[in-house]
Amino acid sequence: MPVETAAREQIVAHAIREISHIATLPEITLKIVSIVEDPSSTAQDLHTVISKDPALCTRVLKVVNSAFYGLPGQIGSINRAIVLLGLNAVKNIAIAASLAKLFKGGSLTPNFSAKDLWAHSLATGTATRLLAEQMKLALIDEAFVAGLIHDIGIMVQLQWDRSKLVEVLEKTAAAPQPADMLAFELAVFGATHQDFGAALSEKWKFPKSFTTVIGHHHNPMELPPEQRTLAAMVFVADRLTAEIKAGFLADIANIEIPAEIVETLNITAEDIAVVRAKLPDAIRLSETVLG
Ligand SMILES: [Fe+2]
Ligand SMILES: [Fe+2]
Repeated sequence: MPVETAAREQIVAHAIREISHIATLPEITLKIVSIVEDPSSTAQDLHTVISKDPALCTRVLKVVNSAFYGLPGQIGSINRAIVLLGLNAVKNIAIAASLAKLFKGGSLTPNFSAKDLWAHSLATGTATRLLAEQMKLALIDEAFVAGLIHDIGIMVQLQWDRSKLVEVLEKTAAAPQPADMLAFELAVFGATHQDFGAALSEKWKFPKSFTTVIGHHHNPMELPPEQRTLAAMVFVADRLTAEIKAGFLADIANIEIPAEIVETLNITAEDIAVVRAKLPDAIRLSETVLG
């Protein structure tokens, strides 16, 4: 292993150990994730876990009854949601509904707060979801969660060393050319939010597809072709979100979507235009149910 990679891994492992207070997901989310990962889990398992947390139960029902699913106000129970939407959808909705409380904290700089990052995460999750719909993929809810957690590594940086994150953000803002923050993260932290986020996702035992997205949403083309789709979708969603300036966007230098990404997703400019047009209303809806 190159020295540089080893040093980077050490920095990341150290940070993840030190921030164990945020690196501990709410117990209920951990249980949901383990159900998600267990192919033999049943609807009853999920129902039992969610029902123990009335606040989470309410949030999940708010999501499933929203206009996103075309059955507004018709789903009265978790079991009914599982019957109508499927176990996989409800698992992902439950993860999404339990994540908001991680993104807490006041303003760090005039341009950054955990709240901005949550707004950006919700917007990107929404755009990834719209893209999945437009591409007629089955993994719509998984796409939403992938977009929701793609920048979780920035929360690790915030908890690990907020003064370093401030330094990164200031250097990014002061760069003579529009720049993304990744090079500055490497210089200041010795690792990027992709590295920190992927390590956290592994620690939480999130599905491997999420770790891949978190670790490669800025460079999906570096993944083997069969692993690119979801990371490339989040790449596009991130840029569509930045276009309309929804929340935090310092990790993106420009909003161009390279032709190779469009090609790898096998989508057209028309598909992107459809998602772009639907996005503002869809973000408002996401904020109503999960904001
Ligand atoms: Fe990012
Ligand atoms: Fe992002």
